[in-house]
Amino acid sequence: MRKKIVAGNWKMNLTFEEGQKLTTEIVNMYKDENIKDVTVVLNPPFVHLFSVKKLVGNTPNLFLGGQNCSDKASGAFTGETSATMLKSFGAEYVIIGHSERREYFKESNELLTAKVKQALENGLTPIFCCGEPLEIREAGTHEDYVKNQLTESLFGLSEEDFAKIVIAYEPIWAIGTGKTASSDQAQEMHKALRDHLASKYGQEAADNTSILYGGSCNPANAKDIFSKADVDGGLIGGASLKSRDFMDIINSF
Ligand code: 13P
Repeated sequence: MRKKIVAGNWKMNLTFEEGQKLTTEIVNMYKDENIKDVTVVLNPPFVHLFSVKKLVGNTPNLFLGGQNCSDKASGAFTGETSATMLKSFGAEYVIIGHSERREYFKESNELLTAKVKQALENGLTPIFCCGEPLEIREAGTHEDYVKNQLTESLFGLSEEDFAKIVIAYEPIWAIGTGKTASSDQAQEMHKALRDHLASKYGQEAADNTSILYGGSCNPANAKDIFSKADVDGGLIGGASLKSRDFMDIINSF
């Protein structure tokens, strides 16, 4: 059985005080609302990790993740943060290959392979992002485009390592635009990606891989999107910055 996961990607938002307030609200609501069977991951900016971890403590099924990690283990790489550091601060997950990293920081499929390896070597679960830009969707080549992202970055992994990966499908045209993919569009792509994973790692491994949807997911559309057979949760941007919205999305399963 694959996990249901809702991960909040705070991106480059929130001061120390704002991060503390949001986390406190989420932890309290999470306990009050008795969330079951959903793995929740908070992915704040690195500087928040320590203080967010303190507030989250050992709350069951509530985890911490980074938004990125270095492809290198350690050393003279000013401004970078290693997977080892993330782990030592209590992170269990790390987002790798977000489209904003790919676009603004020119992260290639090859570089992302090295980041995935760093994450795995340090016991972190990679949330590996993929997704197509608008022009690729309009050209109708989106399936091949996204499958290729998975092939190039992940298909060198052993079966054992692949079993630790979470995928997030985030169509770029739906990120922060308020224009979400329809639940049918999400299902169609998630099914195609699962079939692609099965072609390499077998049906059982593909069936055990959580594939999350991301892109303008909110409390109003989450239930419909999460109801689809191949959608196993969400990677949430804007709505993860509002505790009530984030909880309502978690409660959409
Ligand atoms: P929004 O939910 O703000 O569209 O962002 C999605 C995203 O990029 C999550 O990683």
